[in-house]
Amino acid sequence: MQIRKIPIHYARANMTIAENIYDSMGLLLVTEDTALTPRIIIKLKLHGVNQIGVYDYRKEIDTFVDEQMTYLDRVRQTKTFKSFQVDFSKSVDEFRKDINEVVTNNKEIDIPKLTHELDRLLAQNVTGSSMFEMLQCMREYDDLTYVHSLNVGLICHVIGGWLNFSKEDNYLLSLCGLLHDVGKLCIPKKLITKPGKLTAEEFTTVKAHAYRGYEILKKQNIDERIKLAALMHHEKCDGTGYPDGLKSEQIIDFAKIVAVADVYDAMTANRVYRAGLCPFDVIELFESDGLQKFDPKFLLPFLERTSESYINHDVYLSNGQKARVIMINKAALSKPVVQVSQQFIDLSQRPGLHIRAIL
Ligand SMILES: [Fe+2]
Repeated sequence: MQIRKIPIHYARANMTIAENIYDSMGLLLVTEDTALTPRIIIKLKLHGVNQIGVYDYRKEIDTFVDEQMTYLDRVRQTKTFKSFQVDFSKSVDEFRKDINEVVTNNKEIDIPKLTHELDRLLAQNVTGSSMFEMLQCMREYDDLTYVHSLNVGLICHVIGGWLNFSKEDNYLLSLCGLLHDVGKLCIPKKLITKPGKLTAEEFTTVKAHAYRGYEILKKQNIDERIKLAALMHHEKCDGTGYPDGLKSEQIIDFAKIVAVADVYDAMTANRVYRAGLCPFDVIELFESDGLQKFDPKFLLPFLERTSESYINHDVYLSNGQKARVIMINKAALSKPVVQVSQQFIDLSQRPGLHIRAIL
């Protein structure tokens, strides 16, 4: 049978995998001859798999890819996005300069200046999940630590708003997001951007960024929570995180929120797939794998608000039909009630049918 290499965003349920697929650490994700399911496809995207070999390739999916690009393309055409884009690149440049001075020359962190950079973007008045869409459209810049840090800072600000944080706390939370990965600047860039598998030794080096970040920030006269967020943002509530395998009650709240924003940004990032995962894919992943790892007190409001923001949006279902999101299911946030023509479909009652893309 003919093997065809296809980009991961062309993958569809029931295609048959023609090779073993590994993640960047060399762990086996899927074995040869597995029939793809929506869940496996999401998992592969999450692990940064860009291309897979399959036995059966269907031409009709090209139409789907075109449709899927439409929504973000439309966002890119808006005046708000164009203006956001200009300010975003200014903020990234400033942040890059400021933070390099801190890391290489031990310069004191200028918190008012960093807050100003956040303010420049927040002044655009992009609220809620529209901010996430803007950030997703900024992907063409690059995926390096600076852009990711700014994204996480802004996502944290949105989450802080949803959690009704005071203005002061929300700025502090955003700064935690902005500085959480500062330790990555001490890790060789070739490891951060390495496309292939990391060796066990390389992975240990990359993981050290949490401690390295804390070491850098420890010397600074800044709020303790910013330092601890850098140290703890890879800890997981069930104790499976790093560097110290802390449990939920040992992890500070701000680090838990940064962890949600960090993973959300990574899931929707360029390296996974140009247009990012569909927000409902991301919600499903968090629902299926995240409830033990992230604090539900922060994760659930985040998922709920993200999901709600797509009410009245047109979407593309996995069976190829177009639908409109009508109502969110609190017990299954990735599976809302949708309308197709005159018919209402509760996706939580329809296993195998899910939202493939926002139109
Ligand atoms: Fe990190």
